[in-house]
This record gives sequence, C-alpha cells and structure tokens, in this order.
Amino acid sequence: MAITLRPLTPAFGAKITGVDLRDLDEVGFRTIQEAFEEYSLLLFPAQELDDPAQIDFTSRFGPLEKTYPNIGNNFRTGYVACMTNLDEHGKLLAEEDPRVQVRIGQRFWHTDSSFKRVPATASLLHARVLPPEGGETEFASMRVAYESLSEDQRKALDGLKAVHHYAYSRRHMDVDLTDQKTDDALPPVPQALIRQNPTNGRKNIYVSGHASHIQNMDDAEGRLLLDELMALCTRPEFTYSHSWSLNDLIMYDNRTLLHRARSYDITRYPRILHRTTLAGSGPAV
Ligand SMILES: [Fe+2]
Repeated sequence: MAITLRPLTPAFGAKITGVDLRDLDEVGFRTIQEAFEEYSLLLFPAQELDDPAQIDFTSRFGPLEKTYPNIGNNFRTGYVACMTNLDEHGKLLAEEDPRVQVRIGQRFWHTDSSFKRVPATASLLHARVLPPEGGETEFASMRVAYESLSEDQRKALDGLKAVHHYAYSRRHMDVDLTDQKTDDALPPVPQALIRQNPTNGRKNIYVSGHASHIQNMDDAEGRLLLDELMALCTRPEFTYSHSWSLNDLIMYDNRTLLHRARSYDITRYPRILHRTTLAGSGPAV
C-alpha cells in the first residue's frame, strides 16, 4: 500500500489513505509525523481501531496524557477519554444530566488542555458510534490566522501571556460543573499568546475558550483582545468542518488548532468518539 495525502482545505488539514495504522512501518510513521507538523490536522478514514490499537499508535509520537477525573468522564482517569452521551448502562443521558452539559460545553471553540501548565500537543479522535445527522467537528487554524496579520499587529502580540483556567470555561456555562477540589487541582496558568512550532519555526496565535484574560493588562481590555483574536482565528476561510464517518480517526494539533463540536439531537441519538491525547513536551511560556 502506498500512502496518499490529499489536502482538505487550501489552509490546513490533509486526508491520508493507503495506510493501516495498526500495521505501520517506520518510514510510513515518519511520513505521517512530518505531515502532522505541516498540515496540523490529519484525517485517516476507515481505521478499525480498538482502544489498545489507538493507544499504540498515539504512543509512537510520545507519552500520552491522562484524562483529568471530572463529571464528564464519571471521575475515571485513563489514557482513553470516552466522548459519549450514554450512561454506564448504555442508556441515553437525560438533557438535565450534568454530563450532557459538559458535552454541550465542547461546542465552544477551545484547544484541549490549554488550562494545564503543560498543554497537550495533539488529540486523536476515533468515531465509534455516530448520529444519522449533525455532530460535526469544526477546526480553526490559529497558524493561518497569525500569518494573515501585518508585521505591526504581530509585534503588538509578541511577549503577551493569556491566563487559561478550567473553572473559567466551565463556570462560563454552569456554576455546578466545577468545584473547589477541581479548582485547587487546576489553578489558572499563563500561556504564551504566540507560539512557535519547534520543527518548522511557523508561528501561531494561541487562544482558547479556557482563556479568561491577559496577564498584566486591564481585564476588560484583555478580554476584548481575546475575543478579537478568537473571531479572527475562526473566520470561515481558516476553518474546516468535518462530517464524521464510522472509523474515521482525526489527529489534530492542539498547539495550532481550535476546535468545537456541533450540535445534534443529543437526547435521541447515541454518539461515541474515543480520544487519546499526546502530552506536551513543556509549558507554552
Ligand atoms: Fe476538545
């Protein structure tokens, strides 16, 4: 089988076919690794992966991140986060269930784990059960957005740090979705507002729904700047909307991409995606 790569949009993203991720030689792996740095998002259709195979493939890039125990994952921690609207007995969750609220929270633009001191490098989502309509995932490139800025605009952002806080994004929607214990475990962390890819030197904006304000800047002014940058990064020409097919695997770069889940009839149709997360190599500041 020959690996074939086809860009998904003029801005970012690539579809990769001709590969079985359960049986990938070193040359094939290096091709994928380089494509990931270049395209930020890789779509691998028709990959029949179970959890161990998904963990194995993710581990080839480096250490995995463990999920933080929270209400959305029934306070279970592990290397696979199960994005599901079913309860532990396989029944659809009721609309008022806090776990449904957590899923709805994923409809805000964000990057995974930006609230951690060392944010995640990548997430890998594998489609196991899908609704007949809706439930797309959208991605936005903060790298292409950065490259659209003028030299003066880039200079003005240089050196700034945004503060990211799990409790901020959760309380944003529902005060009951976080508690003191979670707040203590995940205190606010500063992250560089402009990041640079260590392998190709390309820079990008780094904002997220978890970012509350800019360090050492008036709160309202910082909030406005974050809103402006978020609006810029999510302009249609910088985004890609993915309609899932069963057994799609998408690997996306959390250092450069925002993403959000789109709605579907959450109390009517089951939807299950399994996520593994590639840990970051260090703080972004
Ligand atoms: Fe996410």
